[in-house]
Amino acid sequence: MIKLGVNIDHVATVRQARQTDEPDPVWAAVEAELGGADCITFHLREDRRHINDRDAELLKRTVATKLNMEMSANAGIVRAALRLKPQQCTLVPEKREELTTEGGLDVVRHRRRLGPVVKKLKREGITTSAFIEPDVRQIVAAAECGFDALELWTAGYTDAASEQRRLEALAQLERGVDAGHDHGLIVHGGHGLTYRNVGPVAAIIGFSEFNIGHSIIARSVFVGLREAVREMKRLLDTTAMQHLALLEADEFWQADGEED
Ligand code: PXP
Repeated sequence: MIKLGVNIDHVATVRQARQTDEPDPVWAAVEAELGGADCITFHLREDRRHINDRDAELLKRTVATKLNMEMSANAGIVRAALRLKPQQCTLVPEKREELTTEGGLDVVRHRRRLGPVVKKLKREGITTSAFIEPDVRQIVAAAECGFDALELWTAGYTDAASEQRRLEALAQLERGVDAGHDHGLIVHGGHGLTYRNVGPVAAIIGFSEFNIGHSIIARSVFVGLREAVREMKRLLDTTAMQHLALLEADEFWQADGEED
């Protein structure tokens, strides 16, 4: 079954819109876990535009599943991660002017800078993940840098402008998952995934975890966060069960053919 990491940044975005103390992303993490989240994800941005240091500290103390910190390789943020020691750190590119993370990290270009960061985090027992595009050169560079895992950027698929591009992007993700495994890496996925578009990506064998934020938080406005997470978990589990049933049917027909 694919695990679900729920990104709670946008609960803090609502709080920051009024610079007040509600809604609290720490409460959101509890609700998400009660709905079945396998992991709580947050991004501690250099400008602290949503999640702040207080949130990060409380999340570390209260999250009962797994805590995944998205972060840039900025020295101050790396120091914060080393102090906090979440179970997993996902290295992402970060630009001040962006609305959300745009594209994957260029590990090929920044490998000299990323290698020592990965080493420091791993020394503290933190699992390291690189948010990258499903490009074999990036995957090889991430493995060479010492990352334990990849998070494949799924927005090439979710933002595809045509059916052909969508299918190409799915095929590229499939190749990315295989290349990740070939290089001994755990493979996660995320960005732009919604209730409507997650099915075909969840049907790719080999993803171990998806990180989903905006769509779940948006749905939670209407049904509550616990229920919104439950719905996404159900979707992921259903896709996995359908896949298993298809594989079993395939095996049945193959065995049947061999007997004839
Ligand atoms: N994965 C990474 C690395 C991200 O930066 C984000 C956005 O914060 C997500 C997943 C979640 O993306 P979305 O909000 O589109 O579900």
